[in-house]
Amino acid sequence: MPQQASRTARIEARIAPGALLLVKRAAELQGRSISDFVVAAAQEVAHRTIDEAQMIRLSVQDQRRFVELLLKPPGSCAGPEARQEGSSPFDRILQMTGSFLIEPLRSNHDRTDFTCGVDALDRYFREQAGQDVRRRATACFVALEMASDRIAGFYTLAAGGVLLAQMSVRLAKRLPRYPTVPVARLGRLAVALAYHGRKLGGSLLWDAIERASRSEVAVYALVVDAKDEQAESFYLHHGFVAFGDTSRSLILPLPKRM
Ligand SMILES: CC(C)(COP(=O)(O)OP(=O)(O)OC[C@H]1O[C@@H](n2cnc3c(N)ncnc32)[C@H](O)[C@@H]1OP(=O)(O)O)[C@@H](O)C(=O)NCCC(=O)NCCS
Repeated sequence: MPQQASRTARIEARIAPGALLLVKRAAELQGRSISDFVVAAAQEVAHRTIDEAQMIRLSVQDQRRFVELLLKPPGSCAGPEARQEGSSPFDRILQMTGSFLIEPLRSNHDRTDFTCGVDALDRYFREQAGQDVRRRATACFVALEMASDRIAGFYTLAAGGVLLAQMSVRLAKRLPRYPTVPVARLGRLAVALAYHGRKLGGSLLWDAIERASRSEVAVYALVVDAKDEQAESFYLHHGFVAFGDTSRSLILPLPKRM
């Protein structure tokens, strides 16, 4: 039988002492050398990353197929105007969901030319967001335009708490009598000027609601301190209600679990 040449390449990496201890401990538990453990772990994450990317692409294709079936069920004969590309609300939804990918901010995302029209938000995103994520002060998610890989929008989300006493009677009566209520705080949300008015702001907001709802740590509601009247009207438009004594503090209770 021909002998398969098993060539290996060498990689070098620097690691902080604390992280090395952690890896060493895990490698010992699996009875592996550190380098075997690191290579196996890297391969596992690489497979998962590639699978996830493929799943997202497939789900976009599935959405298109789903809409096609809705517009033209098997055996039916939809009129030509219904099938014309870009003509139906479904097509517009597809254009939106098929064009952008919302994912956690990474160090290799290019944030340098992000411009949403509000200086403070642009400066925060370009200069501060990465550091806040590294220090676990917040999580940050970005909407990437798939065709160009440009960042079209972002939002930040952090764990927080609000006093039960700040809640309206209507909300408070559905809650247990603990002094604080666990919430997720939407710190900042912005869409780059070039993408305004294309439902991306709304999509980012719903993505935040989705992520907060899926959290394994209990989160009762999403809260936001709207920075001005326009931002306030954006959140009110999406179902938030005022709470507390501070002006422009808004809350959106999340759907009940099961
Ligand atoms: C506010 C902002 C995020 C909206 O994003 P957008 O992508 O342009 O908005 P969308 O296209 O997603 O709008 C979705 C819906 O919200 C509505 N909407 C958008 N801005 C609104 C506002 N200021 N007040 C009320 N409704 C608003 C739209 O009419 C649309 O309604 P519909 O779904 O019923 O048709 C965007 O304008 C922005 O980044 N502004 C600068 C930063 C900012 O003010 N951030 C807010 C909080 S920090």
